[in-house]
Amino acid sequence: MKTGLVRGMFDILPEEAAWWRLAEDAVRDAARRYNYREIRTPIVEHTELFSRGIGEATDVVAKEMYTFADRSDRSLTLRPEGTASICRAYLTHGWQTSEPFQKLYYGGPMFRYEKPQKGRTRQFHQYGIEVLGSLDPSVDAEVIAFAWSLMRDLGLKDLYLRLNSIGCAEDREVYRTALRQHFEPSLEAMCSDCRRRYDENPLRILDCKEERCQPFIDEAPGSADHLCEDCATHFDAVRTWLDRLGLSYQIDPRLVRGLDYYTRTVFELMSDDLGSQNTLLGGGRYDGLIEMLGGPSTPGIGFAGGYDRLVIVLQENAKRDATLGATADRLDLFVAMLGDDGRSFGISLVERLRAQGISVDFDHRGRALRKQMSLANRSGAQYLVVIGEDEAATQRAKLKTMDSGEEADVGLDPAELARHLRPGCNCGCNHEA
Ligand code: HAM
Repeated sequence: MKTGLVRGMFDILPEEAAWWRLAEDAVRDAARRYNYREIRTPIVEHTELFSRGIGEATDVVAKEMYTFADRSDRSLTLRPEGTASICRAYLTHGWQTSEPFQKLYYGGPMFRYEKPQKGRTRQFHQYGIEVLGSLDPSVDAEVIAFAWSLMRDLGLKDLYLRLNSIGCAEDREVYRTALRQHFEPSLEAMCSDCRRRYDENPLRILDCKEERCQPFIDEAPGSADHLCEDCATHFDAVRTWLDRLGLSYQIDPRLVRGLDYYTRTVFELMSDDLGSQNTLLGGGRYDGLIEMLGGPSTPGIGFAGGYDRLVIVLQENAKRDATLGATADRLDLFVAMLGDDGRSFGISLVERLRAQGISVDFDHRGRALRKQMSLANRSGAQYLVVIGEDEAATQRAKLKTMDSGEEADVGLDPAELARHLRPGCNCGCNHEA
């Protein structure tokens, strides 16, 4: 019987969750500041959406999709990424006519059947943004500014952004020819995947990680040298905007990205903390995607990053700088209880304190005081109160501050106690009520 974890899938345990929340909150806050609205799409879509949208020859479609037939024999796929789904939603809701300009953000689990390693899993979690309906190069710069701003908020340094333009569909045809000319004499010395890619799509050779192929890739022509006038002007304008906004980037003439829908601007934000899977996030323009899905010609640009990788980098960063990092929420109060009267008064006090916005817990197994105290210590609670028969009768008890050991005599009225536990609290809870 197989009941363990499926290969490449992971639990996010309670002690990890604080790091995830830190990252998720930062994404939500950046989206608020840049005015991107949240969209949530289903995890399952028709297979064709991805096979057509992302491209049959890409690794994602050719080797990595979780595809299955449902009970009505529809071919469905667990989403391997978010962009195609968002373009589908754009058309599903008729935004091309009602509201053609959209700034959207999203997050959630994605699935790719890849070889698991550090920073690469089969279920991973992306955050991403997409802007639909504008070709303006200032949008390219805003999308990149969003990515940099997010990383700055999280205190991440030592990142670098690779930038390139792969031009329009016609430019890419010219570039493919140039790549074929370049690789042809070396094909015998290259890996079998690259020999296949040479025929199917020589751009994909540039993604190859095989040692033996690298010298030929390093010498390959760059895409930006094969741009038509419009695309070259667009790329110049993107760089001018990035310079104006003071955003750093390095031109990488051989950055092409692994999905077929890209046009013009492509970029990746890199971190050396990630080892070989060093792309923290990646994105670019996809000006032909909506049309390919049956809609009107509509430009689009966005990026997505893996939360999983972001959390790894955040944790590495916090090792170097102790002021950074996630702090788990501390329990406000632990209530230890003695005897029937203590337990009956204690449990109702716990419930009334929770209604006042205080986080409170107790030993649900009704064990001896020694065991309750040890649980109180492990819970990380800031305060402890012990309620026995006397405390229940007098409605007064000693409130112990766990860090200092200090004790104060307090009344057990929930509102009063709440004010004591969280003085000047402005967390939105209602303990003044
Ligand atoms: P992608 O480069 O395939 O692009 O993935 C974006 C990011 O998702 C990667 O940089 C990485 O952080 C994370 N990622 C991808 N695969 C895995 C994996 N197996 N395990 C862990 N993390 C992973 C896209 O998905 C495009 N939709 C991005 C985009 C949005 N382009 C335009 N708009």
